Amino acid sequence: MKLPEKDILIRGERETDIAAIHEINLLAFGQEDEAKLVDALRKGKSYIKGLSLVAIKEDKVLGHAIFTKAFIVNKAGKRQACIALGPMAVHPEHQRQGIGSKLVEEGLERGRELAFNSAVVLGHKEYYPRFGFKLAAERKISSTFPAAEEYFFIMELKNGGLKGISGVVQYAREFSLVADAKKKDQQKEQTAEASKENQQENPSQQTGEINFVQSGSENPLNSNPPPQN
Ligand SMILES: CC(C)(COP(=O)(O)OP(=O)(O)OC[C@H]1O[C@@H](n2cnc3c(N)ncnc32)[C@H](O)[C@@H]1OP(=O)(O)O)[C@@H](O)C(=O)NCCC(=O)NCCS
Repeated sequence: MKLPEKDILIRGERETDIAAIHEINLLAFGQEDEAKLVDALRKGKSYIKGLSLVAIKEDKVLGHAIFTKAFIVNKAGKRQACIALGPMAVHPEHQRQGIGSKLVEEGLERGRELAFNSAVVLGHKEYYPRFGFKLAAERKISSTFPAAEEYFFIMELKNGGLKGISGVVQYAREFSLVADAKKKDQQKEQTAEASKENQQENPSQQTGEINFVQSGSENPLNSNPPPQN
């Protein structure tokens, strides 16, 4: 780690932070998926007020982390609420200076205060264990993401919070909505490319019709690979 960044304030996001949060996610992930996902989560019913956090220095947003409500659902369909961390992002010029850690620690503390029993995260296996996250698979808890189980972690927020709990974690529906929208766009893009190639080979098939919905890279709804932490 570099020298820790000083005078960082962690607080709940405000309306005026939204554009900066979008930008930080774009910069940190190098793609639009996570930024769009955060925007969608904010409008969804799994959003928890006070658990979309920003790291501020001199009035500038340098980092962001969101915890949304999820459920661990067992085989009998019984469910226990938990908080799910992610996406989280720190401005690339300010990474590895402890800002991410401050965001995670504050979020876990707030989750505890809100009486959640546990927190889950899908992400870097070198990073999350330092906060007390353990492999979820050890408790027979899995996620619906296609990622390997070595990336999926859980931690108790209170002693015994996960006693007798196992099952599959159901994340906010926005996670799959954003991934599905992306899949659709990719399919559209492929179809458009195939038809373009086809028209180049058979120019007489061109109709001259106007398409009001652009496909492929010009589609404003075009999104990127599945969001992960
Ligand atoms: C992951 C991330 C949020 C961590 O924030 P941060 O402020 O850099 O984190 P901290 O300074 O508290 O901790 C630094 C540790 O993060 C880990 N880390 C940072 N970037 C990492 C990466 N790309 N891959 C794996 N681990 C990473 C390292 O273990 C590092 O420890 P080290 O400096 O001792 O090697 C930030 O690096 C980031 O925005 N990355 C790009 C987006 C991303 O991957 N988000 C996480 C998934 S949602």
